[in-house]
Amino acid sequence: MTKMVVVGARGRIGRKLTATLRQRGHEVVEVSRSLGVDTVSGVGLTGALNGAEVVVDVSNSPSLDGADAQRFFEASARNLLAAGRAAGVRHHVALSIVGVDRLTSGYFRAKQEQEALIRGSAAGFTILRSTQFFEFIRDVVQEGSDREIAIAPALVQPVSAQDVAGMLAEIVAAGPHNTIPEIAGAERLRLNEVAAEIATAYEDGRRVIADVHAPYFGAELGERSLLPGSAARIAPHGFDDWLRESLQPDWTTTRRADAPNFTTPYPEV
Ligand SMILES: NC(=O)c1ccc[n+]([C@@H]2O[C@H](COP(=O)([O-])OP(=O)(O)OC[C@H]3O[C@@H](n4cnc5c(N)ncnc54)[C@H](OP(=O)(O)O)[C@@H]3O)[C@@H](O)[C@H]2O)c1
Repeated sequence: MTKMVVVGARGRIGRKLTATLRQRGHEVVEVSRSLGVDTVSGVGLTGALNGAEVVVDVSNSPSLDGADAQRFFEASARNLLAAGRAAGVRHHVALSIVGVDRLTSGYFRAKQEQEALIRGSAAGFTILRSTQFFEFIRDVVQEGSDREIAIAPALVQPVSAQDVAGMLAEIVAAGPHNTIPEIAGAERLRLNEVAAEIATAYEDGRRVIADVHAPYFGAELGERSLLPGSAARIAPHGFDDWLRESLQPDWTTTRRADAPNFTTPYPEV
């Protein structure tokens, strides 16, 4: 049985990915600060990676402030790559963001640095760039404290966390490609409109207003900054599917751990 380490296992993607990989019969070790392993200080990392063949890094900086994110992603990537080298990890998988190379803010520079460290290491790797998760947009709406929330009307092709986890599981199964594929939803929508529909569906009461200057992870967005390239893998579930399922009272993180049906297979190495 292949041992895999999911870094950020208690996050939006990490929970679904852990469930998906276990459902497919893999031994999964969960890494997250709340479980006593810290990728920044390195505490617990050697033990967690011992005997692992694959590391999937879906962690995120606890603070999205640019300088904090830069410290987090640089230290975390360096420590994970060094511990992976020592443990004999053959595939380092990481989750990044569609458009990361054309967006300007401390947070995006931090993600660029994370990608550069992985590409520059001797490890076999795959970096999956994803568009915005529906879950993330929902959380942004729900975590705001103001009655009005300003969001840029940029075009987006959001995707469900379960579809991202499904593609990561395929990437793991395929082995290291040393490439940077993309995943996106099929529908092209406006970010502020998706947020407004989520606020309405959750009877949130907050008003979403379109503001072209509203920052996204510290960056000002152009209309097309968040759109994927033409080769992006298109996820099977749309906004209505996600919304319907996320509003179910018994909805859990494991309910849809089964593989999403992508129309084309991810190629094996
Ligand atoms: N938001 C989006 O729409 C989007 C789109 C494309 C790509 N991404 C990328 O996807 C990745 C995952 O995002 P997410 O929203 O799923 O993240 P998230 O929900 O914020 O989860 C982050 C995870 O990282 C862990 N973590 C934080 N600091 C840690 C440390 N020092 N050591 C070990 N674990 C640590 C957290 O564990 P604790 O809670 O225990 O600290 C948590 O499990 C990010 O890298 C992000 O850039 C996001």
